[in-house]
Amino acid sequence: MFSIFKKNKESETVNYFPFTTDIHSHILPGIDDGSPDVATSIMLIKGLMSLGVKNSIATPHIIGDLYRNNPETINNALQILKQELKIQQIDFEVRAAAEYMLDSYFFELINSDQKLLTLKDNIILTEFSYASMPDDPGKFSFAIQMAGYSPILAHPERYPYYYDNYKMYHRLADLGFMLQLNLLSLTGYYGKEAAKAADYMLKNELVSFVGSDMHHERHLAMLSESRSKASFNKFLSHRNWNDFLE
Ligand SMILES: [Fe+2]
Repeated sequence: MFSIFKKNKESETVNYFPFTTDIHSHILPGIDDGSPDVATSIMLIKGLMSLGVKNSIATPHIIGDLYRNNPETINNALQILKQELKIQQIDFEVRAAAEYMLDSYFFELINSDQKLLTLKDNIILTEFSYASMPDDPGKFSFAIQMAGYSPILAHPERYPYYYDNYKMYHRLADLGFMLQLNLLSLTGYYGKEAAKAADYMLKNELVSFVGSDMHHERHLAMLSESRSKASFNKFLSHRNWNDFLE
């Protein structure tokens, strides 16, 4: 009896993955630095499904200088992908929102009352520049909330300018940013400092969501490898993640 119990326990551990809804990914074909074509999108989706993910809210970049996506470009890519899922009879739900870089273009959008693409209700996914620290993140959160939205901040653990100032993670949460961790940060994929910052935020209960931020096959391979080593369990298995979006 004991050996059977032990075996079950082990397989349960190995099969653990922190969510069934992925709220951050670049799996829509051909519109940002994620999947270049629909065949790649399908391959990434099959990989997500093998990890236990049942649905995704794809979040293509909207960056003024690089990817000026809009509801039309995003919806077109979504329809191409959904059509292919249907043809191949793949049972996976994809919706679309966006990952908004908080640049001057973003402020043009909200100042001109453009409707933003939300994950659910009034919740939007945002990111900061990796290269330059925002002077005043309070200004961002204030403008976003005044426009009627609530921001999730993508991967705060990946912004190098906060590595010597963890107090900022508390400040960002106080300002109304819900913090979203990239799963791969916990594995060291983005470097030691990102892993340390991720660990700090989890220990201090600052993390509201986790996501794959899947761009390409290497991300998928690393996620699969980490899952089979049960690497996420010690950090994440104490609660359900992303469940309010399901
Ligand atoms: Fe992203």
